[in-house]
Amino acid sequence: MPRKSTPSVLIVIFGASGDLAKRKLLPALFHLWNEDSLPKSLRILAYARTQFSDAAYRDEALKSLIEHAGDMHEGDVDQEACRRFVKQIEYQTGAYDDPAAFDALAENIATIDKAHNEAGNHLFYLATPPNVFMPITENLANAGLASSSSGGWTRLIIEKPFGHDLASAHALNQHLHKNFAEDQVFRIDHYLGKETVQNIFVLRFGNGIFEPIWNRNYVDHVQITVAETLGIGERGGYYDRSGALRDMVQNHMMQVMALTAMEPPVGMDAKSIRDQKVNLLRSVQRIAPADVERFAVRGQYSGGGVDGREVTAYLKTPEVEPDSTTETFVAWRVGIDNWRWQGVPFYLRTGKALASKLTEVNIVFRKPPLMLVDNGDSPMQMPNNVLSLRIQPDEGITLTFDAKKPGPLVEAERVQMDFSYLKAFGAQRGEAYERLILDALLGDSTLFIRHDEVEVAWDRVTALLDGWEKQEKEAKTRGDTLRLPQYRPGTWGPAAADELLKRDGRYWRNNGVKR
Ligand code: BG6
Repeated sequence: MPRKSTPSVLIVIFGASGDLAKRKLLPALFHLWNEDSLPKSLRILAYARTQFSDAAYRDEALKSLIEHAGDMHEGDVDQEACRRFVKQIEYQTGAYDDPAAFDALAENIATIDKAHNEAGNHLFYLATPPNVFMPITENLANAGLASSSSGGWTRLIIEKPFGHDLASAHALNQHLHKNFAEDQVFRIDHYLGKETVQNIFVLRFGNGIFEPIWNRNYVDHVQITVAETLGIGERGGYYDRSGALRDMVQNHMMQVMALTAMEPPVGMDAKSIRDQKVNLLRSVQRIAPADVERFAVRGQYSGGGVDGREVTAYLKTPEVEPDSTTETFVAWRVGIDNWRWQGVPFYLRTGKALASKLTEVNIVFRKPPLMLVDNGDSPMQMPNNVLSLRIQPDEGITLTFDAKKPGPLVEAERVQMDFSYLKAFGAQRGEAYERLILDALLGDSTLFIRHDEVEVAWDRVTALLDGWEKQEKEAKTRGDTLRLPQYRPGTWGPAAADELLKRDGRYWRNNGVKR
C-alpha cells in the first residue's frame, strides 16, 4: 500500500489519562507521526479529569511510549523521537459534563488552530467509559465544536462498547445524530484494523477458487473462535456488567462473521461494503427467548492453576458479584437465513481463561459423498476439508485435507497446506489502531461500524440476553439461584459447548483439526 499522508489536524483525546490512551493511542499516533504518515505539525490536546500540567502529562506520555511503543513494532523504541513527539501534546484538565470546561476547550482549540492548524481539521477521540459519550458530544456541540469554524472537517472516533443493548445503542445513535452527521462518526472496532481480518476480503474477492465453493452447496458449517488464556484480571468492574457476549460477540465476532459470510460488494468503497455487512447481519436468525438454551451456551471459569500460574475463579474476582451470572464464555449456534447460507450453521465461541490464545475462522467443507478410501477413522469422522483462517497468533491460512500415506496400501492421512504471514512477508508490521486512526483522518469509514450495523448486531444479541434474563427470572420464581456452568481455566470451556456441536454430529476444531 502506498504511504498515505494526512492534512494538518488537531487530535483531541478524551480520557487521555486512561489505559487505552496510554497503551494504544499515543503509541499508534507516535508511530504514524514518526514514519511521516502524519504531518510534523500535528498537535494533540489531551483531555481528562486528572490534574496534570502540560509538562507532567508529557512526562507520563513519554513513559507510556517508552513502555508500549515497542509492543507494536519490532525493534527498540527511538526514545529521542518520542521526546520530540510529546512536545506536540498539550493537556487540559476538565470534567466531561461541565459546559464551562468545554467553552475553555473551544478557546484552547482556537488558539492551537491559529498557531499550528490553519486548516482547522479536528478529530475528537472518545477513549472514555461509555457513560460519558453523551455528555461529551452534547458539550462539544454546545461549545460550537460539532463543526469547525475555520472550515476544516470535524470527526469523532468512538470506542466500544457502543451501547449495552439494542435500546441503548439506538438512543446513542439518535443522540449523536442530533449534532453530528453519520459521516462524521467513526465507531471503532479494532478487529477490523487487523491485517488478517482484512485479508478475509482479499482471500474471498481477490481469488477465483474460493468464491464458487463459499456457500451451502460446499460448506458444511463455519466455526469462529476467539479464545483468550487470561482471566479478566483487574477489569472486574467493567466485565461483570458486560460479559463475553457483549464484550466480544456483538462487535468483534459478528464483524468477523459478517466479513466471512457477506455477499460480494459492488465496489470496495465504504458504502458498498457496509451495505453488504448490514444485509448479512439482518439475515442472522433472531433467537426466541424460550429457545435460547438450544442455541447458546454460557459458562464461567473456576479457579485453578494453568501453566504454573494461578487463576482466581471469576466469582472471587474483585468487583465481581459473588452470585454473578455474567458469562466469561459463550458459544452460539448462529443460523443465517439467506440463499447462500441456508442450513449452514455458524458456531461462534469465545471465552477467557481458555486453553490457548487463538482467533480463527474454520470453514468446514462437506464430507465426500461416499468414502472409498480407508483413513482409519469411524464413519462419523470422515474427513471434512477445512480452510482455517488464523487471525492471531501465528497469522496465516491452512487447508486441511487427506493424502495417501506412503506405502503399499491405499490409506489416507490428514495433512495440511500452510500459508504463514511470517514466512511469506517477514515480520508483521502495523497495528490495528494505526491503520484505523489513519483511515479516520483520511475520512475513509470502510473499516468503521455504521449506525445501522451496530443496531442490527445488538438486535440479535439482545434477543439472546432476553432469553438469559428469562432463565434467571424463572429460576427466581422457583426459589433457585441460577448458577452458570463452571469450567476449569486452561480448558476449552464448559462441556455444554461440546454438546452444542455434538447434537449436530460435529465437533470443535483448532487449526482445522479436532482439538
Ligand atoms: C477487547 C475486549 O475489545 O478485545 C477484551 O474488551 C479483549 O476483553 C480484547 O481481551 C481482545 O483483543 P485482542 O486484539 O487481544 O484479540
